[in-house]
Amino acid sequence: MIKVQKGTKDILPNEMSVWHFMEEKAKAVFTSYGAKEIRTPIFEATELFARGVGDTTDIVNKEMYTFEKSERSLTLRPENTAGVVRSFIENGMHRLPSPVKLWYKGPMFRYERPQAGRQRQFHQVGVEVFGIKQPTADAEVILMAINYLKELGLKELTVELNSLGCPKCRENFKTKLKEVIKPYLDCLCEDCQSRYDKNPLRLLDCKSPECQQIYSKPEIQAVIQGDFICEDCSNHFNELLGYLDELGVKYTRNKLLVRGLDYYNRTVFEIKSNNLGSQNAVCGGGRYDSLVRNLGGEDTPAIGFAMGMERLASLIGEKDESKLRAFVISNNANEALKLSEDMRSNGISCEFDLTGKKFVKQLEKASKIAQYAVIIGEDELANNQVSVKNLDTGEQKTVSREEYIKFIV
Ligand code: HAM
Repeated sequence: MIKVQKGTKDILPNEMSVWHFMEEKAKAVFTSYGAKEIRTPIFEATELFARGVGDTTDIVNKEMYTFEKSERSLTLRPENTAGVVRSFIENGMHRLPSPVKLWYKGPMFRYERPQAGRQRQFHQVGVEVFGIKQPTADAEVILMAINYLKELGLKELTVELNSLGCPKCRENFKTKLKEVIKPYLDCLCEDCQSRYDKNPLRLLDCKSPECQQIYSKPEIQAVIQGDFICEDCSNHFNELLGYLDELGVKYTRNKLLVRGLDYYNRTVFEIKSNNLGSQNAVCGGGRYDSLVRNLGGEDTPAIGFAMGMERLASLIGEKDESKLRAFVISNNANEALKLSEDMRSNGISCEFDLTGKKFVKQLEKASKIAQYAVIIGEDELANNQVSVKNLDTGEQKTVSREEYIKFIV
């Protein structure tokens, strides 16, 4: 038997109401901030991710689904910021009134070791805001993320923030970090040894206990915890914190938060859940002021985030919205058909029994799958009436055919 691929999952009909819920809330919340939806292709030129996400990252080095077609190297998107930026440039969106706010949802692909909360095909919902360098955009984007999570009814979340500074102050930090780590270079794990030269910021992300022990040494911590960002970057970050404080947003500053993608500068943030295992980040984002230019566009500051929808779904749990609104109980096929069509044309989901079972059996079935039973027996038929029974409360009313709809909607 052919089975679903490792790290991928079917989203089954009984899970669909949670997915629709996440999608509808995304549309409602992001639209309320003036964002418009964008859908970009699932595969792009490999070079987009190599240049966009960065060729020193794990995503580009180890996790991409890359294939050749007509001598072109193509890649299934591992994330959507690079694709949205490509589309922003290609479609001349810098000419639109600024800011341009875009939101998206869809599948992403990373060849990672699957575990709870980590898949090879997963879905993200995200937002990208172009054109504003001021920290008001950072505050608004973080609020969009928080309010979306609130609308989903999620609690026990923590917001972590950091500023990576600009490329200039980051170079400073990298040099200092490398200096203090150099004496321990031979004791670091293989990954960290290669990160040391290629991408020293990612050293802070290492999960190996041996490396963590080294990084907790006082002289290394002094560099990590020190203030390395320049005055401009520091002002930008403090202004953002001021806005968040004013709005009563709770956050923690995490100086180890560097994020696994190369395009970030200044603000980076993650929102974590206390109710997930080791893969506890539900949202990751940050500012990427050089990406549009690096991918060939006009200089355009930008900031955004993405959330893993499987992780959100597992926090939302079950949503029992799968019941039909109504079930028609009748032994008269013509009447059952007519009433069903009438309800559907009024936006009410309904079904009826197609096999001519006894009324009690039909009612049993109705109470399992629907919220209301709409009964049309001989009496009702004779009087041009229907009986509407609320299957949760048991309450039943007999009303005229003209007005029964208003008892169900
Ligand atoms: P990311 O941190 O790589 O950022 O992913 C964002 C979120 O996607 C994570 O917090 C997590 O919830 C989910 N996620 C990532 N990988 C997996 C996986 N293998 N299985 C399940 N869920 C996963 C980005 O992708 C950036 N593009 C975010 C961004 C947008 N930054 C600026 N704009």
